[in-house]
Amino acid sequence: MSAENAIWASLPVPAFMIDAGDRIVDVNSAAEGFLNLSRKAVLGQPVWDQLAIDAPIEPAFERARAQGTPLFVNDIDVGSGNRAPLQCAIQIAPLIGSPGVMMMLLSPRELAGRMTQSHSVKSAAQSAIGMAEMLAHEIKNPLAGITGAAQLLSMNLAAEDLELTDLIVAESRRIVKLLEQVEQFGNLSVPDFKPVNIHDVLDRARRSALLGFGAHMKIIEDYDPSLPLAYGDPDQLLQVVLNLLKNASEAAPGGGTIRLHTYFEHSFRLRRNDGSGHSLPLQVEVIDDGPGLPEEIRADIFDPFVSGRENGTGLGLALVSKIISDHDGWIAVDSVPGRTVFRLSLPRVPKQSGEKESN
Ligand SMILES: Nc1ncnc2c1ncn2[C@@H]1O[C@H](COP(=O)(O)OP(=O)(O)OP(=O)(O)O)[C@@H](O)[C@H]1O
Ligand SMILES: [Mg+2]
Repeated sequence: MSAENAIWASLPVPAFMIDAGDRIVDVNSAAEGFLNLSRKAVLGQPVWDQLAIDAPIEPAFERARAQGTPLFVNDIDVGSGNRAPLQCAIQIAPLIGSPGVMMMLLSPRELAGRMTQSHSVKSAAQSAIGMAEMLAHEIKNPLAGITGAAQLLSMNLAAEDLELTDLIVAESRRIVKLLEQVEQFGNLSVPDFKPVNIHDVLDRARRSALLGFGAHMKIIEDYDPSLPLAYGDPDQLLQVVLNLLKNASEAAPGGGTIRLHTYFEHSFRLRRNDGSGHSLPLQVEVIDDGPGLPEEIRADIFDPFVSGRENGTGLGLALVSKIISDHDGWIAVDSVPGRTVFRLSLPRVPKQSGEKESN
């Protein structure tokens, strides 16, 4: 089975392929189940005869096809000749490379409702990331074309018009940078856990900050030399500290002081809803004396695309929080003007290898 066929067959929601004449050219097995009809029985059938949709969706569908754009419709009742309607979200997208052919996915609410909360939140985040990644990939090519065209144009322009092509090039670069960050998010793999000297990670981050984005800052080390090894992925933890240093540096363009503080707190435990818990005794604080978190976004800073800066993408702290949660760790922030503290709490190396610490 080719990868495309496997993806099609594995889609856990009813999926339809619809040709330019609104006839069904393919359905996956979830759709067979939804319609309670075999694939053979529905191929070639007009799709709107098979699906009873309780909303005038056809004009929007036509528009999506004509414009080659996707269409999302939430909370509409979809039934078939053989079953009572279910409340669904519908996603429709033109099939790349086949003009006029549209792909339609139905996500029945009932299915989503049965999943546990955390699972659906996580998978929602994952599908959003997957979608963003796909989008990032698709936007980069035309963008390269636009930049190239602007550069060609600029060769024949008078000096005063060059400003415009320069703007196109600069803004395109900015979008590419954003897309790369989105892709980095998607590429994040599970942590490669090993014993990590957190002070080595902090030193690396500090040195690279002072050479680049944090050259205007003073970075003080305030380490507990007896701190045991942490258990984590050193590269991912470096990314975390770099992002925190970068934010602190960007919050204080005129310069300031950042303190890297480590300490051991034996009693720090993370409790889960199910009553299980684990110990997170290693504390790493990144403390700055800048203006503090902007009031309007304070509650949402860990969400993607939340930024208080003119040119910020808002992905830094979302990435930080993803990495820390993949480490079974904890991140907290406390901020007033003049003192902002991001505190990471991390697990230590399990006592017996291959087994997680339980006390
Ligand atoms: N140490 C800090 N002091 C003041 N504000 C901060 C600090 N850290 C984060 N913030 C605020 O939180 C926002 C979100 O940070 P985040 O790193 O997620 O995104 P960003 O820095 O705007 O963009 P990106 O990191 O993707 O370049 C920032 O825009 C800034 O307003
Ligand atoms: Mg940032």
